[in-house]
Amino acid sequence: MSTASKTRHKYEIVAAGIRATIADSLGPNDALPSERELMEIYNVSRMTVRAAIARLADEGLVYNVHGSGTYVGSPDLFAKAPKLTSFTEDMVSRGYAPSSRVLEVSRVAAVAAVATRLGLAPGGECTKIRRLRLADGNPMALETVFLPGEVLPMEEFDAKSSLYGQLTDRGYEIHRAEQEIHAVTLDEDASGLLAVPLGSAALEIDRVAVDRRGHPVEYARTIYRGDRYSFQMAVSRESGDK
Ligand code: GLP
Repeated sequence: MSTASKTRHKYEIVAAGIRATIADSLGPNDALPSERELMEIYNVSRMTVRAAIARLADEGLVYNVHGSGTYVGSPDLFAKAPKLTSFTEDMVSRGYAPSSRVLEVSRVAAVAAVATRLGLAPGGECTKIRRLRLADGNPMALETVFLPGEVLPMEEFDAKSSLYGQLTDRGYEIHRAEQEIHAVTLDEDASGLLAVPLGSAALEIDRVAVDRRGHPVEYARTIYRGDRYSFQMAVSRESGDK
């Protein structure tokens, strides 16, 4: 057995098995084997089966119907389940070639709003990176990111490669994030950089992202051109919701 499979949780192995069964032999809305059957197939406890199913439900691959069982989800919804992506990954998945123009990289003292989100003391040292993000060479978003100084000292930022790739290489792989999305209108500076008329509408997505240990790694404000970017997400109702 390889080290990787030894350290894998049992429920992950069961989840991988169920994923393979779905891919090989089940379609949308087909029932999964019952909990008891899955316990027998994988020789694991009910808790492990439930953890595996919860993982697959989080991914949007299956859904539970209370008192009935677990079913295979719809691939359309699955494809639209929001994923935590970098700008680079997001643009590639939309069919654009991503690139960036770095506007600022500096060492700054965290103001209260930044310090709170990054779990730093007010005035704590952080790295600020401001980039114009392009898709097929045309402005798509204007992004300002703050990272705790020890996560990425400003001298070590590589302007030519993906920030998330660099964080992974440094041992701070982004794992989860909370986001807030709101509408904004663009001032002179932002509209000039994004190449749209002054006062144009845009979509701002603020993200606080944490690594696997749950430590805040970045606070980002990304302003997307309203005429070029939209945000899709799948939503569902639990059976029994009124
Ligand atoms: C998106 C996110 C930002 C993140 C960035 C990283 O734009 N909203 O929070 O910093 O991706 O992008 P990349 O890894 O391509 O530099």
